[in-house]
Amino acid sequence: MVTYSAPGKIFLFGEHAVVYGESAIACAIDLRARVTVQKHSEVLITSELGKGKDRHPYVSKAIEKIGEPIRLDGARVTIDSEIPIGTGLGSSAAITIATLAAMNEEFSAGLGKDEMAEMGYSVEKDVQGAASPTDTYVSTMGGVVLMPDGRRLRNLDCEIVVGNTGKISSTKELVQQVRALKDKHPETTQPIFRSIGNLARKGEVLVEKGDYSAIGELMDINQGLLESLGVGCAELSTLIYAARGAGALGAKLTGAGGGGCMVALVDKTHVKGVASAIESVGGVAIKTKITEIGVRRE
Ligand code: MEV
Repeated sequence: MVTYSAPGKIFLFGEHAVVYGESAIACAIDLRARVTVQKHSEVLITSELGKGKDRHPYVSKAIEKIGEPIRLDGARVTIDSEIPIGTGLGSSAAITIATLAAMNEEFSAGLGKDEMAEMGYSVEKDVQGAASPTDTYVSTMGGVVLMPDGRRLRNLDCEIVVGNTGKISSTKELVQQVRALKDKHPETTQPIFRSIGNLARKGEVLVEKGDYSAIGELMDINQGLLESLGVGCAELSTLIYAARGAGALGAKLTGAGGGGCMVALVDKTHVKGVASAIESVGGVAIKTKITEIGVRRE
């Protein structure tokens, strides 16, 4: 029996545009999913969502993919996650990667970290229809990462406050919705994707310099561009404006949008104020940190 954990993530820049090959910056955060795997005669998956393969499509697909070459009979898989589900914080990716890592050790499948990240990406693509490698790569490696290169950037010396709207959204549906908009208005949406990619590339230089106030300004611009792609919502905007009003350096949605979470970049002196502002308008504030620790044995 073995347990592995993997972190969730936030996007500083680039969600949605990264699906079409644009640059993005994502950061692993200090909320983790833990998965325990034990050899068994059949596949049994259990989490707070209940039991069964249908409730756990990412885990079932991960077991199928890693199990094929090793002719797996079964495994008992138990999931325990601190990452709220369906809120854009990468909970599916973290569970997928922790499952692959635990299966890898329990069944001596011999995969390295890069292969696990690659397999995790193919799990997300199969389950969601379309995906970028961001969530699974960042969850595997940890830290602040420029995608699609996978280049590790300097850690941020700044605080992160996440605000959860409590409105569950489906990444699969939001990605399909953006694709439909892109297909309908290619000449209008193409420059928006490109501008988002430019924000991430400019953001890379600012992260290396540690210029957090400029990073915050670009996050606000990224939010405007995401709104124009139709993935904002009133609940997210309420939390974003509350965070900005309480002194956040920048605030935007994170992940697929349509609900889920926003993220605010905050200097130390404003953490309490931003968190209470988010709570005062009905959000759940999560004060978290960026973690350098990707997937690890517990
Ligand atoms: C989801 O966390 C981020 C999206 O860009 C989809 C993806 O990159 O797979 C919306």
